[in-house]
Amino acid sequence: MRVTWISTEPLAELPYLNAGRRKGEILEDRLPVFDALVDRLPTGLDALVATADLQFRERPNGRHHHGLRLLGETVPEWLTEEILPQLGVDNPQCVGALLCGDFYTVPALDKRGGIGDVTDVWRCFREAFGWTAGVAGNHDSFGPEAAPRPRLSPRQGYFFLDEEVAETAGLRVAGVGGVIGDPKRLQRRCEEDYLNAFAAVLDHRPDVLLCHDGPEGAERGQAGSPTVREIVEVYPPGLIVRGHAHWSNPLATLANGAQVLNVDSRVVILRPAPERE
Ligand SMILES: [Fe+2]
Repeated sequence: MRVTWISTEPLAELPYLNAGRRKGEILEDRLPVFDALVDRLPTGLDALVATADLQFRERPNGRHHHGLRLLGETVPEWLTEEILPQLGVDNPQCVGALLCGDFYTVPALDKRGGIGDVTDVWRCFREAFGWTAGVAGNHDSFGPEAAPRPRLSPRQGYFFLDEEVAETAGLRVAGVGGVIGDPKRLQRRCEEDYLNAFAAVLDHRPDVLLCHDGPEGAERGQAGSPTVREIVEVYPPGLIVRGHAHWSNPLATLANGAQVLNVDSRVVILRPAPERE
């Protein structure tokens, strides 16, 4: 799959709250959603929505009185009610969600970072769309026991991918979660294991590879791993979707023609390009 076009201006923005850098400070910012076209999607799949790094909370809206939800719990409803219909995508069951990790921030927004349960974010995406595939970020745990992976079954349309490949809706989706680091800590692998994980899933020739950290891009400001980039460039070109580090230019093309789409703190909607007459 190849991205053939991505909008430079967002279609819309969703306001949210973020912890400020000074203690006790809470800032308002906005989550942009971008429209993009890909060369093809399997029949029956009208769009993919991809996002990562929503370490924010919703703005108070008077409807939820049990604390502010994680922003990722509110994004699916925003997309299905306000954004996708504008693009003529009227059946959310024909849409798949791609989650590239880091959906947690502390409830009081009194500090940045923290690790916590993001199961409800996965549930909200799955309930809104036909299926959800994704990887864990280094701030994500699952359930009250803070497990490294969720108890969510592919039979129910959840495809949690950690050095794994799944087929859904005619699409082969691979994933490598976490970051390079001390393997004793949550969602981390040593560099050798991390590189081997990319090679293992790329051997399956996925249509799309999801990762949290991942290859660097070709331009300045497209931070990531140079060694993962070297591995990716050995394989035939494909589409990689990643988060973890924000890129102002969200799309990179590597030496072998592989594309890297960065969805850190943004949503990208991928739709099939209209067929030429
Ligand atoms: Fe991260």
